[in-house]
Amino acid sequence: MLTKTLRGRDLVSLMDYSREELETILDLAFALKRKNEVEEEQNYLRGKTLAMIFANPSTRTRTSFEAAMTELGGHAQFHTPEVMQIAHHETWLDTARVLDRYVHGIMIRMYGLEKYGMARDILRLMADAAQIPVYNALDDKEHPFQILADLMTMIEKLGPGWRKKKIVLSWAYSERVKSAGVPQTMAIAASLLGMNLTLAYPEKYDVDPEYIAFARREAEKSGAEIEINHDVYQAAKGADVIYAKSWGSFLMEPQEDREYRKRFRQDWCISKKHFELANRRAIFMHCLPADRNLEVTDEVIDGPMSVVYDEAENRLHTEKAVLALTMR
Ligand code: CP
Repeated sequence: MLTKTLRGRDLVSLMDYSREELETILDLAFALKRKNEVEEEQNYLRGKTLAMIFANPSTRTRTSFEAAMTELGGHAQFHTPEVMQIAHHETWLDTARVLDRYVHGIMIRMYGLEKYGMARDILRLMADAAQIPVYNALDDKEHPFQILADLMTMIEKLGPGWRKKKIVLSWAYSERVKSAGVPQTMAIAASLLGMNLTLAYPEKYDVDPEYIAFARREAEKSGAEIEINHDVYQAAKGADVIYAKSWGSFLMEPQEDREYRKRFRQDWCISKKHFELANRRAIFMHCLPADRNLEVTDEVIDGPMSVVYDEAENRLHTEKAVLALTMR
């Protein structure tokens, strides 16, 4: 049971949430998914507006948030910095203070600025400036809404005892240098919820040490097992979930990283070879968009072990749960 309401809360980092709060969000997401099945109205946010600011491209996040607001009886607006006065150097602070007077929540996707952490600083500044909730729809550090959908999918697919199943979140080859938001947020969630998580990645792809330190600290309290393995085949042994995700190195500039990673192209493309080492009923997960035949083979992502479209669908239900719980 929650000891205090989530109404008015930002979701910038999952580190700001407790195990009980995450479980409340997931419980409501399941309830809302059932309501969709029976076409029950869910107008909890009638008359409410969410301003969505996308500084980077999106298919799932934009569409699912927009649909989420519609299903909850509200409305979502799509903005990009290029067509806001941000383009003429209006500050993010003034932007937040003004939006605060019109809408009931602000969602922002922003990553890949000059320096790691800059987007997070903007998100925090806006969250402090606005009375309304500010939501992180992917920055350089975290992708909280993706991980909530991933957790819901694992609960559905793995059933009771899901927390102790072996989840392998594996770095995967891509030509694009991507955000480490997914592995970093998964480490937070796993440590808060007492999960068994292996982060598999080649040498030099360590995630931000702040996240590993948080995960190790929380794991002591929750009983979570957080492992790191640099051998993808060893990591895949006995896995119940293999989740592929490419991310960039913190130790190399993007151009150097693109060259360095070529040596991992073959072994770190998740294929049948990896699933032969995993448990018989192991599932494949990916947050999408996937770089097919680079991060994962067609045979796996289109195969019976793949749950990627159910995972994508769960973005909608988990987002609705957060919006319904936090917007006022
Ligand atoms: N997984 C995800 O965030 O997808 P989009 O980039 O399409 O929003």
